[in-house]
Amino acid sequence: MTGAMAWLSVTVDVPEVESEWIQTLLTEAGASGLEVRDAATPALPGVRAPAKGDAVVIGYYDDQVDADDAVAAVKAHLPNAPVVVEAVVEQDWSVSWRERIKSVTVGRLWVGPPWEKATAPADKVCLFIEPKMAFGTGDHPTTSLCLAAVDAYLSANPGCSVLDVGMGTGVLAFAAKKLGSGLTVGVDNDPISVELAKECAEENGISGLELSGKTLKEIGGTFDLVLANILANTLIDLAPLIVPKVKQRLVMAGVLVHQADEVKKAYVSRGLQSAGEVVEGEWIRIDMIRPG
Ligand SMILES: C[S@@+](CC[C@H](N)C(=O)[O-])C[C@H]1O[C@@H](n2cnc3c(N)ncnc32)[C@H](O)[C@@H]1O
Repeated sequence: MTGAMAWLSVTVDVPEVESEWIQTLLTEAGASGLEVRDAATPALPGVRAPAKGDAVVIGYYDDQVDADDAVAAVKAHLPNAPVVVEAVVEQDWSVSWRERIKSVTVGRLWVGPPWEKATAPADKVCLFIEPKMAFGTGDHPTTSLCLAAVDAYLSANPGCSVLDVGMGTGVLAFAAKKLGSGLTVGVDNDPISVELAKECAEENGISGLELSGKTLKEIGGTFDLVLANILANTLIDLAPLIVPKVKQRLVMAGVLVHQADEVKKAYVSRGLQSAGEVVEGEWIRIDMIRPG
C-alpha cells in the first residue's frame, strides 16, 4: 500500500454498554473498517484512550454519503453522543511502522529492530526483533517493564529456569536466555506468534529454548521465574494454571493500573504473595513470590 488515499473516520465516544450497538450502526452505514478502544482493548500509547467506563468506536468510510449516514444513525440513537468526522490520510504502513519502532535500553539489555544493527550499542546484550505480526518489539511499556524484571532476576539468579506465558515474539524468553537462564520455555496460544518466535530465535542465534503452542497443562514442572505479559482478564482466567508453575517469582504485565487489585486477588487467593509493583503511564507490572 503506497500512495496516500483519503478516508473519512467517524469517531463516537459512548458508554461501554452502547458500544456494540454503535458498532452495528457504523457497520450498517457501510464502514470499511471498525476500531474499538475500551477496557478490554486498551489504546496503544500515543492514541486517545476512552474515558473510564466509555468506549471510543471509530468507523472508516471511503464515501462521504456513507459517513453522513453513519452520523445520522448514531444521532438518531444517541442524540447527545459526541461524534467527530475527520479526513484520514492513509499511510504507507511499511514506512510509518518502521518509524514508530524505537529501540529500548533496559538495564543490561538493548532491544531494537534489525535495521538498527549497525548502530546497536556494543556494551549491551542486544536482541533484534523484526516487527511482524506478533507482539513484543520491546518498545511497549508492558514489555520493557518485564525486561527490567528479567534483567534484575537473572542478575541475582543466573542459571534459573524461566517460563514465558504469552511469549509473542519471544522477546522476554530471549532476554532471559541471553542473560544466562537455564531451562527456558515460551508458550503462546497464537500459532503465528509461535512460528515468528522460532524464526526470531534463529535470527538472534539463540538456541536451547523450548518455544511452542503448548497449553500450561502440557508444560511439566515448576519454574524459578514465570513471566506473563497478557491482558488482565486473561491473567485472571489463567491464575489456576499459572500459580502451580511458579517456583519462586511471578512477573505479570499487560494490566492497567485500575485492574491491578483484581488481578492480584486472583493470585493471592491461590497462595502467592505480592512482591511489589512498577507503574509506567497507565500500565502496571505486578510482581509476586511464592512464600516460604
Ligand atoms: C501482550 S503480548 C506479550 C508478548 C511478549 N511476551 C512481550 O512481553 O512483549 C501477549 C501474548 O499473549 C498471547 N496469549 C493471549 N492469551 C493467551 C493464552 N491464554 N495462552 C497463551 N498465550 C496467550 C498472545 O497471543 C500474545 O502473543
